[in-house]
This record gives sequence, structure tokens and C-alpha cells, in this order.
Amino acid sequence: MPKKPEDLRSARWFAPDDLRSMGHRSRVMQIGMDGQDWTGKPVIAIINTWSDLSPCHHHLRDRAEFVKKGVWQAGGTPVEMPVHSFAEQLLKPTSMLYRNMGAIEVEETLRSFPVDGAVLMGGCDKSTPALVMGAVSMGLPFIFLPAGAMLRGNYAGEKLGSGTDVWKYWDERRAGNITKDQWEGVQGGIARSYGTCMTMGTASTMMSIVDAWGLTLPGASTIPAPDSAHKRMSTACGRRIVDMVWEDLTPDRIMTPASTRNAVTVAMATGCSTNAIIHLIAMARRADVPLTLDDLDAIGRTTPVIANIRPSGKDYLMEDFFYAGGLNALMKELGDKLDLSAMTVNGRTLGENIADAVNYNDDVIRPLSNPVYHEGSLAVLRGNLAPDGAVMKPAAMDPKFQVHSGPAIVADSYAQLKEIINDEDHPMTPDSVLVLRNAGPQGGPGMPEWGMIPMPKALLKKGHRDMVRLSDARMSGTSYGACVLHVAPEAFIGGPLALIRTGDVIEIDVPNRRLSVRLTEAELETRRAAWVPPPPRYERGWGWMFSRHIEQADKGCDFDFLRTEFGAPVPEPEI
Ligand code: FES
Ligand code: MG
Repeated sequence: MPKKPEDLRSARWFAPDDLRSMGHRSRVMQIGMDGQDWTGKPVIAIINTWSDLSPCHHHLRDRAEFVKKGVWQAGGTPVEMPVHSFAEQLLKPTSMLYRNMGAIEVEETLRSFPVDGAVLMGGCDKSTPALVMGAVSMGLPFIFLPAGAMLRGNYAGEKLGSGTDVWKYWDERRAGNITKDQWEGVQGGIARSYGTCMTMGTASTMMSIVDAWGLTLPGASTIPAPDSAHKRMSTACGRRIVDMVWEDLTPDRIMTPASTRNAVTVAMATGCSTNAIIHLIAMARRADVPLTLDDLDAIGRTTPVIANIRPSGKDYLMEDFFYAGGLNALMKELGDKLDLSAMTVNGRTLGENIADAVNYNDDVIRPLSNPVYHEGSLAVLRGNLAPDGAVMKPAAMDPKFQVHSGPAIVADSYAQLKEIINDEDHPMTPDSVLVLRNAGPQGGPGMPEWGMIPMPKALLKKGHRDMVRLSDARMSGTSYGACVLHVAPEAFIGGPLALIRTGDVIEIDVPNRRLSVRLTEAELETRRAAWVPPPPRYERGWGWMFSRHIEQADKGCDFDFLRTEFGAPVPEPEI
């Protein structure tokens, strides 16, 4: 049912002829509004994650002006509302510690102010799930406006990819193969414009996922941040959200089981970041769509990686993906692997949106008949070491480690790990399995991106560039290597990872999705009885609250009390 002006949520604040509403009207007059602004016009919140310390979002203050233009054009009233600013590189100990805080802030900002719909501006890693999780829980119509990727990196004529090439050149620097000057050249050339990392890391993955879910204007996720098309897309978001309010196109009509499967399928086909698994589960749970690690693994097994973009692909970056036709062209290649009847924010189906998409470069966007990798990018492993699952990225590892066993070298902390990896004479072999524990949601704290453990010097100097690494941490979406991550339950709360010792044999079997330690159940039980829990990480503040309520990786690391089914729905505020 289309909305009438008197049905607008904001009208509850502004329309009544009473004392309180007079107060609301007088206070928006204070900022220069008048009856033209508040009578019968949807109020659109532009939720902005801009800040000076959020380099990936540095253009969003400017883009908010384009969104406002679109809102005015369509007969709405825009209001810009800043929320927590995410910055993957600068926010410590890890931005994951603050994803749920951002989600809470978005949900409560939308709930407590007189707004009818929202444009969510973000893109740097955790900002996308945070914005979507909060807005879905509130339930107002919204459009996600992706920040877009930065330009390709460049140093000395070489193309550089965010993250991916930092790790690569760091290994070369530690192996003594490049100079300090060359290293500094890479530093200056790897982030040449505003916008998110331009590999298919977590940011690009998450923006692609919400695009495929139907939450952005079609194909918006692939537009490079500095392209003028990004400004026009911002204006179009402003125009469209006003109509979405009148149409009452709420997120529950878009985030269905079918569109969720589309989002997962596209994630796999892009060679997505391992972080996507956690955020997909968390967002789906907020939308009340059941989604488990096993669902993700099942879709992954039947969806090849067709985006030839680093780190899973070889040569290309997000800018190349845009020129090749972007996400719409990729989705067209996926054909009947997607449910084309799924509704999207522009009021049309996914099928209608991609009907005319063209693939301009079939080396960047591969046809299903010539994939980059024959299966989806992620695999879920289980076994006595990870009863609730662990995640890895077979597309980005040396294939010889897919079936592997080797002795563990265990580090209880990142400091201990550093000593091991910096020890040139450490007696490890290429078969050793390097283990980092107490780096999960509680132990990290906040599950930092320590899971792409740097290659140890002892192996680097012998020419090795990959080995099996195992942790309850996450890794950056731009990382690569034989890294098994997200082991659940985590060591810090007594998961089996807490019980292993240096020398125990770890077995990994990717084709059969197994991860185990060669120990009897009786031995594990004896060690479990002797295990002493470590002292809490925080005794006050946000960290204290975080550790009381954070759920494990296989549940999406949401807070228990933010689950959709937790308690009765939150009522609209009294006015
Ligand atoms: Fe912002 Fe990578 S640091 S997207
Ligand atoms: Mg990242």
C-alpha cells in the first residue's frame, strides 16, 4: 500500500497541533526549515561514516551533497547524520571490535529521530555490515550507497593492489630483495585516491554482496570512488529513496531467502574475503533469514570463482572490473545460478536490472566455462579441532597444502608469534603448522586480522612462500596463503584449539572439509580438565560489554541481545 503524507513516520513529530510538536517545529526552524520542508515530505537520513581519519570515506562528505540534491529533486527533505567512522587500517585494536557498536548506533539513530528512510554511506570493511545490520533491525526503507574502490596503485610502472602487494613486498623486504627506497615508493603509490581498497578484499566483497542482495542501485558497488558516475549515482540514491518511502519498500521485502542465496552466490563467484562469511551470517540473522556455515559451504562448492581480481585472481583490480562491465555483467554470467525474480531497491527485479548488462572483457569476468577457480572461494572445515567450524580460502593458497599433516608450532599470543617468525634459526620445516590462538572474538579481543601470519624468516630464507597457518583470528580480505581461520569455538573460551601443544600433529583435508588434531578424545579430555581460563581482557567500558555479549564466529559475531528473536520487538518511541 503506498503511503499517504499523514502516514509518514516523521509526521508524528511535526504534524500534530500540540505542545510537543510545536517544540519540534520550532527547533527545525532553528536550522532554517519551514513548513515547506516538514509538511508531507519524507525526511531522509543520510547516514554518513565520513571522518578525517577514514581515508576510504574521505569523499563521502562531498557525496552527501549529491544525495541531498537528489532528495530535494524528488520532493523529500534530507538530513545528514554522522555515525561512527570506520577505518580498517587506523582503528585499533581492530575495527571488528566496533562493528556492532556502529550497528547499534545506526539502529538507534534511525529509531529515535524523525526520519522516514535512509541512505547509508559506507564501504570500508566493517562499515557495510554495521550499516546494514542496524538499518535492517530498524526496518525503515533504505538504500546503501557504496563508497567505491580507489584507483589502481602504481609504483615504478608496476600495478599495485591494496593489501595484497603490501604483504608481497614486505616478504621481499624481509628477505633482503628490495631497498628501503623501493619500499617507500610502494608506500606512496599504493593508495592514490580516496575510496576503499581496490583488490577484491573485504570492502569490495561486502559492497558486491549488498549490491547482489538488492540493497544498492544496480551495479553501484563497482563504480570507482573518483569516477564522476559515483556522483551521479549518489544523486540517484537521493531521488530513489524518496520514492521507496512512498512505496513502503522496506528491507524485509528485499532481504528474503532467495536474495540472500544470490548474495552468497555472488560472494563466492567474486573470490570473496573470508570476512564475508561472518558478515553474511550476521546480516542474514538480522533479516531473520536462516543462514549457516554449511549453507555457505554448499553454495561455495557449486559456484566457481569467475572474477579474475586479486587476491584470488591473477592480474586485475576493481577498476578493471568496472571497465569490464562490473557486478551486473558478472551476475549475468552467473545466469540461472541466481534467482532473477528477487526484488531490489529500485523497485525492479534483479533479472530486469541485469538484462542488458554486457561483459566487455572475458578475461576479467570469466564465463562459467573458463573460471579462475573451479569452486567458490571459501571452504568450511570441521573436526575435533573446530567442532563449530573453521574457514579457509583454497583459491588463494598453494594447492599442495590442500591435504596436509604436520607438527604444530603453537603461539599463545601475537608477541610470542612474532618471536617465532623472526627467529631465522627456528627448527621448523615447510610441513610445520604455525598456530596462533587467543585471537578470536573474545581473546583478540575483537578477532583481529592476525590470521595471515607472516611467513617465518626461517622458511623465507630457504625460498618458501606458503605454509599452513591456523588461528581463531580473521585475516584481511586482501590476504592469501594456506591460512585456516575463525576456528570455533575460540581458544580463549576453552575451545579445542586451547588444548593443543607444540609437536601435536595437525591434519587438514580441504576436499573432505576436515580439520583435526591427531589426539584421542581421552587425551583431549584430560587436557580440557587441566585448562585454566585466561584473565578477562577488559574489566570496564565497551570492551567489557563486548566480551559479555559477543557470539562466536560461526554465529556472525553479533551480540546475543541484538538477535532478531531476542525478546519482543522494540516499540516506536513515545513522542
Ligand atoms: Fe578501507 Fe581497505 S582500509 S577498505
Ligand atoms: Mg581489509
